[in-house]
Amino acid sequence: MTKQSEPNSDVIEFSNLRKSFQSGNETFTVFEDLDFEIAEGGFTSIMGPSGCGKSTLLNVISGLIPPDGGEIRHNGERVEPGSFFYGYVFQEPRLLDWLTIGENIRFALRAQEVPPEDQSGRIYRYLELVGLEDKIDSYPQQLSGGMRQRIGIARALAIDPDILFMDEPFSSLDEFTAKELRQDLLEIWQETGKTIIFVTHNSSEAVFLSDSILILDGNGKLFDQVSVDVPRPRQIGHEALIETESAMMERFFAHLKTTSDDEQ
Ligand SMILES: Nc1ncnc2c1ncn2[C@@H]1O[C@H](COP(=O)(O)OP(=O)(O)OP(=O)(O)O)[C@@H](O)[C@H]1O
Ligand SMILES: [Mg+2]
Repeated sequence: MTKQSEPNSDVIEFSNLRKSFQSGNETFTVFEDLDFEIAEGGFTSIMGPSGCGKSTLLNVISGLIPPDGGEIRHNGERVEPGSFFYGYVFQEPRLLDWLTIGENIRFALRAQEVPPEDQSGRIYRYLELVGLEDKIDSYPQQLSGGMRQRIGIARALAIDPDILFMDEPFSSLDEFTAKELRQDLLEIWQETGKTIIFVTHNSSEAVFLSDSILILDGNGKLFDQVSVDVPRPRQIGHEALIETESAMMERFFAHLKTTSDDEQ
């Protein structure tokens, strides 16, 4: 069955979200007055140039770092930052080299107090989901970079999070492996029905994967929230994806030009 985001699906709403960092007497505003929605069960990407605040926004949404202000509502009800149970996948999988793949996942399950009798079943199930059940007794250094990243995804999913946060998970991989993993991630998303929030600076990756793309402009503002209304399954290089990406990037570069003209 093909998954589409439901028009009336449940949403998480963020309003007036802002975050600054203090350095000595200086205050550096990463973003302010951000208003956006995330559909539960949907695939949302956060995009923007390096340093624009993508990782900071992901950390604020997850509750890893507190916002300076703003409101979060889940299906209309106000919730505190950090209320969501989440899994995180980073650019590097951050596996423990001295533990086997199975033990790495068990470590995460223990930390979440998953009952011991459920742990082995879960480890196998999620390794199978990423196609690496035969690597259960291998050590991380015996695996390729792409395999290690798959293990990172399996470990994040094994705790059965409400939301899967992914911060540029494929950017350190070669393009062949990244392509394969994007395709696999969509299948995993379809199978698990998880809400995914995915950071990338790669516009074709964002368009290929997402239902919705939040674009930060590097001046602390949310420039655009783009809906990608291209049916799934999607083919890489499909005309509608290329058109969506070109229109999105044209608007973005026009916006950057306007802001830099204003500053002169
Ligand atoms: N803990 C911190 N203390 C001070 N400044 C910070 C901190 N974390 C991030 N910043 C600053 O906030 C800005 C946004 O950083 P962030 O890591 O969110 O950007 P990004 O969009 O994820 O960049 P990249 O694409 O390079 O990963 C940067 O200017 C960064 O230096
Ligand atoms: Mg980042």
